[in-house]
Amino acid sequence: MSNDSLKGKWALILGASSGFGAATARALAKKGMNIFGVHLDMKQTMPRVKEVIADIEAAGSKAVFFNMNASNERKRDKALARMKEELAASGEPYIWLMMHSLAFGTLKPFIADDPADAIDKAAMEMTLEVMAHSLVYWVQALVREGMLGRGSRIWSMTSEGSHRVVPGYGAVSAAKAALESHTRQLAMELGPRGILVNCIQAGVTDTPALRQIPGHELLIEGSKRRNPGGRMTTPEDVANTIAALADPSVSWISGSIVFVDGGEDITA
Ligand SMILES: NC(=O)c1ccc[n+]([C@@H]2O[C@H](COP(=O)([O-])OP(=O)(O)OC[C@H]3O[C@@H](n4cnc5c(N)ncnc54)[C@H](O)[C@@H]3O)[C@@H](O)[C@H]2O)c1
Repeated sequence: MSNDSLKGKWALILGASSGFGAATARALAKKGMNIFGVHLDMKQTMPRVKEVIADIEAAGSKAVFFNMNASNERKRDKALARMKEELAASGEPYIWLMMHSLAFGTLKPFIADDPADAIDKAAMEMTLEVMAHSLVYWVQALVREGMLGRGSRIWSMTSEGSHRVVPGYGAVSAAKAALESHTRQLAMELGPRGILVNCIQAGVTDTPALRQIPGHELLIEGSKRRNPGGRMTTPEDVANTIAALADPSVSWISGSIVFVDGGEDITA
């Protein structure tokens, strides 16, 4: 596959400053793609954002980043207006690839001796909103603005938690199950427009989001022990998959869950 097929095309990555999103931004930039990045970072994590932008630019690509809550509709529409200007200036008709890689949720249990330690309605809704429903709202807005077109491809990120239980992961599990459903629904509704929508189920990967999960040490140990490949998944495993499948010759995968986990799921 030649790099030229992607040169100058744009990717929009929600969650571009860390983990899978950052690795994918770097991998796509190496293929010549320009990157719109959406992320939510405070002062202490801004250095990592600057590193991602510097790596994209070092690859000779453009990086236009937005530090904002992806669930804020007003900010989303403002960001889309700015992206539209960039697309027009670069002569690209629409965004070629969108990735939804947001990690932002409550890790409280449903049941606790002290009810204050258990999940509440606001936390449950926020988790579902950011980690699942925002996919639908961003895609709706992109379609409305004419910013996706034939050949565009959308990736969401799921985990084993969509169908298995992990302590503290109840709300995120629900979000993953919803995200997979949203992915299928979008694949069906966008099929007639030639837009591909798929989900990646990554294996357990050592990122800041994983380290927030109570008992993540056990998840890491279990992944290393049972993964047929003998190691954990890395952000680059996912990034390289998305970069390879970004090639325009790949045009008939839609509504799928692609396992990028070295076979981890089948060993559970
Ligand atoms: N790490 C794993 O083991 C694993 C496995 C399978 C799936 N996943 C999924 O992959 C996705 C990415 O996870 P990660 O491990 O790369 O996490 P991460 O913490 O490394 O990155 C999360 C990104 O999301 C951004 N973000 C969070 N909330 C946001 C918001 N409200 N608005 C805008 N940006 C926001 C952050 O700024 C960051 O760029 C998540 O959906 C996660 O559930 C993770």
